[in-house]
Amino acid sequence: MATHIDLADRTAIVTGAARGIGLAIAQRLLASGTSVALWDRDATALAAVETALGGTGRFIVQPVDITDEAAVTQAVRTAEAKLGPIAILVNNAGIGGPVVQTWEYDLATWRQIFAVNVDGTFLCSKAVIPAMRARGYGRIVNIASIAGKNGTPNFSAYSASKAAVIALTKALGRELADTEILVNCVCPSVADTEILQSFTPEKVKWMLDQVPKGRFVKPDEIAAMVAWLASDECSFTTGQLFDITGGRSVY
Ligand SMILES: NC(=O)c1ccc[n+]([C@@H]2O[C@H](COP(=O)([O-])OP(=O)(O)OC[C@H]3O[C@@H](n4cnc5c(N)ncnc54)[C@H](O)[C@@H]3O)[C@@H](O)[C@H]2O)c1
Repeated sequence: MATHIDLADRTAIVTGAARGIGLAIAQRLLASGTSVALWDRDATALAAVETALGGTGRFIVQPVDITDEAAVTQAVRTAEAKLGPIAILVNNAGIGGPVVQTWEYDLATWRQIFAVNVDGTFLCSKAVIPAMRARGYGRIVNIASIAGKNGTPNFSAYSASKAAVIALTKALGRELADTEILVNCVCPSVADTEILQSFTPEKVKWMLDQVPKGRFVKPDEIAAMVAWLASDECSFTTGQLFDITGGRSVY
């Protein structure tokens, strides 16, 4: 019997949805019947996505910088007014930063990586949780990384920020565990998206060499995992991380 994940009558926010993994997640949710607010700080790329997606479901695009609390709060209001109550939040937006030895990071760069990856995830979650609590339902899915579990050498700000996203997922999941708001995260290995522009070709090869399956994870594969975590069928699992590393991670 064919099965599918039914997310009809739900409304989602996907951050960092103008390209890469976030766009794949938004497309997967739209295909599952969800109304989607696609957020990104890149207004030009969002406009192109709006044109490309035209007619494929119920969605809006919203230029938002997730490090700006006032902008995030206002964007949630707009999304709810246009699409309905937010039931699903996918905290996907993230940046990599430079490949440098830890002692060579400048503090401003280190802080910027944390501002997007950690503060952004916190601010978007903070903006939707009170209404989710009032309505008694929610699914929050954070996109972390294998780097947050293993630590990628010469990429310590990113690795530490993703470890923070994992810990935030666990803490928030436990805080909300007596409600119907579930909080989980996924930890992918390397995917072939624009974020790799931070890396040297040697570093990308090094990361791929760690993956027993010997290939990039596809954004669609990550989106499929997110779709289940965002659904009613994920009903008794919270505060967990889900591995999607082609056999790289063993714990
Ligand atoms: N590509 C990989 O190898 C890989 C592996 C594991 C985890 N991840 C994670 O997956 C997520 C998506 O990565 P991707 O590979 O699709 O990257 P990407 O660079 O292709 O896309 C990221 C998107 O986030 C947006 N963004 C960045 N800062 C923002 C901000 N402050 N406010 C709003 N939007 C912002 C960018 O404009 C961009 O459109 C990230 O959290 C990343 O860390 C990626």
